Amino acid sequence: PALYAVVGNPVAHSRSPAIHQAFAAQTQQTLSYERVLSPLEGLRETLQALAARGAHGCNITVPFKFEAQALAARLTPRAAQAAAVNTLRFDAQGWLGDNTDGAGLVADIQVHAQTPLRGRRVLLLGAGGAAAGVLGALLQEGPSALRVLNRNPAKAEALVHSHQALAAEHGVALSAGALDQAQGRYEVLINATSASLDQGTAPLPAHLPPVLEPGALALDMMYGPAALPFLQWAREQVGPQGQVRDGLGMLVEQAAEAFALWRGVRPDTAPVLAALRQQVD
Ligand code: ATR
Repeated sequence: PALYAVVGNPVAHSRSPAIHQAFAAQTQQTLSYERVLSPLEGLRETLQALAARGAHGCNITVPFKFEAQALAARLTPRAAQAAAVNTLRFDAQGWLGDNTDGAGLVADIQVHAQTPLRGRRVLLLGAGGAAAGVLGALLQEGPSALRVLNRNPAKAEALVHSHQALAAEHGVALSAGALDQAQGRYEVLINATSASLDQGTAPLPAHLPPVLEPGALALDMMYGPAALPFLQWAREQVGPQGQVRDGLGMLVEQAAEAFALWRGVRPDTAPVLAALRQQVD
């Protein structure tokens, strides 16, 4: 069967093999999907070895999304905009790099969480690979304002700078700042930081006034125990009318986009997400 993999460090807890096997079963295909732990200084060699084994493609996870972009011979427009790659296809004429994270996040917010982004005020926390992968897709939905806050504000400024033309095209007021520089209240908050992994802290300093409108949607890209500190913090912020989501829906949706790139058919995500939810919670 055709071989695929997820490449990262760490990678042991990745749910991608189960997700892609479920997609394969649903679309009546057979494939192998492995977890591959790459040395931090050895991504190129790891990918070359995988391709030499006949793999058709792979997913890329932390901390390699920026580096993978540099190893691709060609990039899809959305991967070029992000300057980050989460999906590679090992084409004979050169590796194609794509980024399906943004499409996955937007699908989860608009389809699963039933929250249209058009005209909304959106706050994106973080300016690393995870944030870079989704900013373009968020802007294309036409929120009224999108503010990127990061512990290191220079990184947020740089990310915003590289997306300013796209923001103008879609009429979005795009801005950047440090974590204590929210401007007013927001209707959608997306946590793309790994703050939860650092001693389980909330993503924003505790002394700040609320940054979310009552009834807002707050989403963490993480899932499982790593998402719990954020989810607890967010529940207080959004109140009883609000919605709080972890990253499981986004994970399944970005995988479906990658599967479509590789296999030419987009699977139905709802049953796969429901099954995964039972295993994770
Ligand atoms: P990823 O690919 O998951 O985005 P990354 O590129 O290393 O990983 O980015 C991690 C993000 O989490 C960054 O935005 C980082 O902030 P800095 O750029 O200032 O380092 C953020 N982050 C990590 N630990 C954090 C913490 N304890 N509090 C706030 N932000 C944190």
